[in-house]
Amino acid sequence: MGHQIKIFLIAAARPNFMKIAPLYHQLIKQRWANAKIIHTGQHYDINMSDSFFKDLNLPTPYRNLEVGSGSHAEQTGRVMIEFEKLLVSEPPDLVIVVGDVNSTMACTIAAVKLGIRVAHLEAGLRSFDREMPEEINRIVTDSLADFLWTPSEDGNQNLLREGIKEEKIELVGNIMIDSLEMVRTQIESEDVAKKLKLESGNYAVVTLHRPSNVDQKSKFKRICEFLNNLSNKIDIVFPIHPRTRKQIEAFSFHSYFNDNGIQTIDPLNYINFINLVMNAKLLITDSGGIQEETTYLGIPCLTLRENTERPVTVTQGTNTLCCIDTINTGVEQVLTNRYKAGDIPQLWDGRTANRVVKSIERYFHNTETN
Ligand code: UD1
Repeated sequence: MGHQIKIFLIAAARPNFMKIAPLYHQLIKQRWANAKIIHTGQHYDINMSDSFFKDLNLPTPYRNLEVGSGSHAEQTGRVMIEFEKLLVSEPPDLVIVVGDVNSTMACTIAAVKLGIRVAHLEAGLRSFDREMPEEINRIVTDSLADFLWTPSEDGNQNLLREGIKEEKIELVGNIMIDSLEMVRTQIESEDVAKKLKLESGNYAVVTLHRPSNVDQKSKFKRICEFLNNLSNKIDIVFPIHPRTRKQIEAFSFHSYFNDNGIQTIDPLNYINFINLVMNAKLLITDSGGIQEETTYLGIPCLTLRENTERPVTVTQGTNTLCCIDTINTGVEQVLTNRYKAGDIPQLWDGRTANRVVKSIERYFHNTETN
């Protein structure tokens, strides 16, 4: 390729950092690529953002749009306004967005309207639940993006069903596995369980932040009661997301967590968190990424959601969807060592970033020679 391809990689919120890191590290090795990280500032706390940059060896972002929190329209609108200014002053050849957060959709809309190409990594996932803000972000992003890189075959099928042209879609595998493998040595050198006085292999990790679980007082109360009962059977550690912490305060639910069996801690950095997951007996979560990480690591995962945009984690992996009325079935299976074992899905092999880089190279090479 004659000139360098200028690429903006969009970082925004906690689940995105482990999706851009392996790709950034591969891109900077290519002579034809000039990759820059743009942080929208959707997540801004040290333990929701900076610590991930450090763990994943990412440089300070080229720009931080500093949009912060707000309602969906406020946050999306602010990202569009600020990102558009940047795109106009220094237009890139390609914008790469990842995942399904508000910034993903906002940056896609801003770029596409300026005629700038957009690629979506982790395309095609669908929960078919439009009450989830992320589902709206996925549908809009995928319908506008020029390249759709999917993590699993169901993603390809969803996109084709929505009428997206086959030539735009490429199955590249799960980029999060690249991140995990990239820092595996550091992950394995930690012993977070010991620091928390937990017995390795014999504790549960809980993470909850979805509006569907923590925003409604009666529903969140039942979850807290369940965790309180569970703590009589197994030690629990609960790294608390900022939105969940706010809800615990708003509902005065502190008393559920005074018990010694439940340790509530601040969100952990990436390396420590994966170390904690790796040595856990069980995960209870409503996160998207953790469903995948547990499948890859072979750790039982009970997901407190009615649906998942990551069905292979259920059909092939160690994930089970449940609600507060059915979760005890899974808990009993895990505690009596009768829970399913699970397999690792195709192309979750730590080489996804290479496939993405090849895809970009092929496209720009063909464009220039045509
Ligand atoms: C966002 C993503 C979600 C992702 C989650 C992971 C959308 C629609 N949702 O949801 O897909 O799973 O991040 O964390 O984009 N806050 C802080 N510090 C921070 C970030 C947020 O205190 O660094 C507080 C905010 O003030 C806000 C709350 O946490 O009250 C929620 O943050 P926000 O980014 O709006 O959405 P999440 O619920 O985290």
